[in-house]
Amino acid sequence: MPGTSELSHVTSASGTSPRVEELLAALSTEEKIGQLIQYFYFKFPENSAGGPLGDLAGQPRMVEEALTRGGAGSLLFVKDPAETNRLQRAAIDGSPHGIPVLFGFDVIHGLRTIFPVPIGLAASWNAELIERAQAVAATEARAVGIHWVFAPMVDIARDPRWGRIVEGAGEDPLLGSVVAAAQVRGFQGGILGAPGRVIAGPKHFAGYGAALGGRDYDEVDLSDQEFWNTYLPPFRAAVQAGAGNIMSAYMDLNGVPASGNRWLLTDVLRGALGFDGFVVTDANAARDLVTHHFAAGPADAAVRALTAGVDMEMTVADPAFGHLGAALADGRVSPGQLDESVRRILVLKDALGLFDRPFVDEDAAREVLARPAHRDAAQQAAEQAAVLLRNEGAALPLDAAALRRVAVIGPLADSARDTLGPWVFDHDLSETVTILDGIRAYLGDRAAVSYEPGIAAPVRTFPSMFDRWEPGHIAPGSDPAVALDRAVRSAADADVVIAVLGEQQDMIGEAASRCDLSLPGEQLELLEAVAATGTPVVLVLMSGRPLELRGAAATVPAVLQAWYPGTRGGAAVARLLFGDVTPAGKLPFTWPRGVGQVPMHHAVTRSHAPQEQGRRYWDEESTPLFPFGHGLSYARFAYRDLRVEPASGTADGAVTVTVELANVSDRDGTEVAQLYLHQRHGTSSRPLRQLKGFRRVELAAGAAETVTFTVGPDERRYWSAATRGWVTDASTFDVWVGGDATATLHAQFTVTAG
Ligand code: GLC
Repeated sequence: MPGTSELSHVTSASGTSPRVEELLAALSTEEKIGQLIQYFYFKFPENSAGGPLGDLAGQPRMVEEALTRGGAGSLLFVKDPAETNRLQRAAIDGSPHGIPVLFGFDVIHGLRTIFPVPIGLAASWNAELIERAQAVAATEARAVGIHWVFAPMVDIARDPRWGRIVEGAGEDPLLGSVVAAAQVRGFQGGILGAPGRVIAGPKHFAGYGAALGGRDYDEVDLSDQEFWNTYLPPFRAAVQAGAGNIMSAYMDLNGVPASGNRWLLTDVLRGALGFDGFVVTDANAARDLVTHHFAAGPADAAVRALTAGVDMEMTVADPAFGHLGAALADGRVSPGQLDESVRRILVLKDALGLFDRPFVDEDAAREVLARPAHRDAAQQAAEQAAVLLRNEGAALPLDAAALRRVAVIGPLADSARDTLGPWVFDHDLSETVTILDGIRAYLGDRAAVSYEPGIAAPVRTFPSMFDRWEPGHIAPGSDPAVALDRAVRSAADADVVIAVLGEQQDMIGEAASRCDLSLPGEQLELLEAVAATGTPVVLVLMSGRPLELRGAAATVPAVLQAWYPGTRGGAAVARLLFGDVTPAGKLPFTWPRGVGQVPMHHAVTRSHAPQEQGRRYWDEESTPLFPFGHGLSYARFAYRDLRVEPASGTADGAVTVTVELANVSDRDGTEVAQLYLHQRHGTSSRPLRQLKGFRRVELAAGAAETVTFTVGPDERRYWSAATRGWVTDASTFDVWVGGDATATLHAQFTVTAG
């Protein structure tokens, strides 16, 4: 890991105020420790009277008791305004100094209004849209009394076996950084504590997405250069955008658990990145330092987490931080350490105005959660997130006027729960527009729309960690042959089939890694049978990771990746399929041909026998099915006249890259022009291509525009393992600009030493 040369000075503790200092001076040790403990508040019907969550039956009572003695500074998993007010009242009236509670929650892609999953938002490559989406989420969260969200998840993911790829922005540090900063701005607004905004909590610091084998929670062994050049940049961008919180990750990073790793949480986060907010552990990750065989016991875990740079412990019960009083008494932690962490929490509560305005207006909350403008924003996001992967023979858009019978087939078409995707907790299934709903509403009485799930049994092949099986769209136990036969008949009778296939929402996300990227269950068989009828088929994918498109999935003429499109997802997909909206999304990850190729990404170096770099396997190509940045349109774009000026410059200089982008079709459309850079030689081997700029450009039919990029030292700088530091080399650089990572329009420039 880098020496101290990369690390700037450690920033001072965040700002403070006379109120905070007076309070800090008055608090007992127990109350100070209480401010550093965040409890889940699991108050569900199931555990109020000995329900199925038996071992959590007493948890709410334990938490409420802790509140009244100042033993709980923060709670999570409370989303009802009456409940946040009730618990806030208990804390303020009951505890010795009446310190208000900080309510945190997982508001990942919306609270009541559900936006496309984050990987889908990233596929829009539209920072303004993403900022707007998270501003809506913040407005809804703050209205119900949530002050802090455990988002954005900014972990780079290059292994789609890892289920949490759905929660991030994909494989690339530049796109990841732009998306991370946009989300922080959306959540927080311009100033920490702004009304109607919340504290953003980028996670999981750091490197979590590189889990061994794509197995969630498993160890990460990351090279220095991968850490500094690939996995850290989105966190740097989030901190520079002003994030008030960071969540430390579960896993071991190079043999040291992230949540007990002083180099990571203090030297890098506060030293190199200049972070001055507070750090919370992931759930139970402090006590888990014992699980890692790192800490000798909970007391040791508490001391080492606090000393590493953790300020607050997230826990269900039995906090490791409960041992800090004894550690203080015997000198394993100092009063100054404790005060520094407590101060960070009190400063944030003060910035949020919680001491003066701790409660929310429950009537106002109902109005905010029901805002039509929020639903409209979610639909617009879903329309911009979708990626048109294939469109042979312009099979899409469909001509609604020419259709009489449309067969919608596939278990996900009618599943409101799956349309929303994972990490949703306050959604309204009844208002969710499924893809079937959207197609029926769009066509009205212009065409007869039939629906057949075609799958009799749940496609999920493993018990889910978070979700119970939702009854409804698939009739478990019905006869598979009958279900399939009905689907084939409806296809044979139709003018077109819209097949909606993919993964159920609980097959992705946390604790949902797969070692197989095929369409789960009998979905491929269903697609084969339907395609065999000869009726034209378009495939709509609902997933948060790339899936293997084999067999019919590899031959159907049109494939639209809809992700999990959210509350108005079906309405958005219908407008895309029938051409009211032209797809403009671009893949935020490389789409492999098969799971055997992963991990896979676009920024690889050139190695021995490069002529065979495309065929390193006996049994598969080494190239992806779809490249990073891929996405088609109903319009057609041409890139012309690429120029780089000046053609040669010094190391601290910048070049201006211009290209003419033309819409050479008769349809309006939007293109994400991408700039890729290659350095021909340097202190380290340099990747064949790296994304170093992108512009989302709306162009009317026949219009053209000059698109401009700047490539300077910031775009050329990298951390080199050869010198163990940041370098910008003199070299010759290749530049490509185009619609994905395989762009061919080329120019070059030279940077001379000095
Ligand atoms: C989970 C996740 C984290 C989430 C937290 C609270 O285990 O790892 O992303 O924010 O617990 O739900």
